[in-house]
Amino acid sequence: MALHLGDTAPDFEAVTTQGRIHFHEWIGDSWAVLFSHPKDFTPVCTTELGEVARLRREFAERSVKAIGLSIDSVDSHKDWAKDIAETQGTTPNFPIIADPDRKIAKLYDMMHPAHDEVYTVRTVFIIDPNKKIRLMLTYPQTTGRNFAEILRVIDSMQLTDRFSVATPVNWTHGQDVIIVPSLSDAEAKQKFPKGWKALKPYLRLTPPPDAS
Ligand code: BEZ
Repeated sequence: MALHLGDTAPDFEAVTTQGRIHFHEWIGDSWAVLFSHPKDFTPVCTTELGEVARLRREFAERSVKAIGLSIDSVDSHKDWAKDIAETQGTTPNFPIIADPDRKIAKLYDMMHPAHDEVYTVRTVFIIDPNKKIRLMLTYPQTTGRNFAEILRVIDSMQLTDRFSVATPVNWTHGQDVIIVPSLSDAEAKQKFPKGWKALKPYLRLTPPPDAS
């Protein structure tokens, strides 16, 4: 069954480099980023896992747990981690799921046979503390992901969950945001005391509501 935004993220049990986990229990009250890799000992994935390890503090500041998935075994993942440390200068400091029978890959629709019959594509799922899927991305195997973009989307979602705002094109944390069109000017006056600039009645820009 295809997954959609707003669906409950399928729950599963898995063996990982940090022991057996029950996915929903492991997420707890945090957000989660679940991302798949076609296979161990592949060049693009090696750079990605190094980068996610480097971003540990960025994820922690946003209360986000990262978890990778690759179809190889835990022993293979652990051997690969040595290469990641050697070439990227960081060791994976988050769990990597071993999914040799593609049980979780199939649950999350990570197998795209027209692209590759054997290995997973490169996916990202962002899951909120209510275990709802909030973002899905699918990349071809030959393109590495941009984890700065993933952090940017998390910043946007965490802000838009707190305030009646949306974030414009290429927005990054600290920039002006859009007051959602469903809010009348009278309601906006109450919620956004700093005021706004109306480029159109439906396009009202206001300073970041989480800044003092
Ligand atoms: C990689 O992760 O480096 C990769 C995987 C499959 C095909 C090409 C590259």
